[in-house]
Amino acid sequence: GAPVEVDLTPVAEGQILKLFWRGKLIFVRHRTKAEIESAAKVDVASLRDPQPDSARVKEGHAQWLVVYGNCTHLGCVPLGHQGAYEGWFCPCHGSVFDTSGRIRQGPAPTNLPIPPYTFVSDSKITIG
Ligand code: FES
Repeated sequence: GAPVEVDLTPVAEGQILKLFWRGKLIFVRHRTKAEIESAAKVDVASLRDPQPDSARVKEGHAQWLVVYGNCTHLGCVPLGHQGAYEGWFCPCHGSVFDTSGRIRQGPAPTNLPIPPYTFVSDSKITIG
């Protein structure tokens, strides 16, 4: 599959854009200041799949989180802005992800993975 360009301009703060790349669902989330702060303040050592938020976003673009959109348990599509951490909640078996897409509760073993992408400008990314 060819890389896809994604124009971020229409994605308002607080919104999650869904798109497909190589047949896989991707979420592009425009995080609010509060969502970034809650992702950053977590004690990383306490996480099941320990990753700092800073390692899951691009430097200088922390308002944008780009993750694969299928639960790492059995592949259901988690619902955005739901669950105890207001990240995502998976309705299939109750996995809860935070605003960095990291697993916090429930059976999913790992964080939502990050696809390869780069910023070509402040308002445009290329996935792939
Ligand atoms: Fe998401 Fe099982 S598929 S919790």
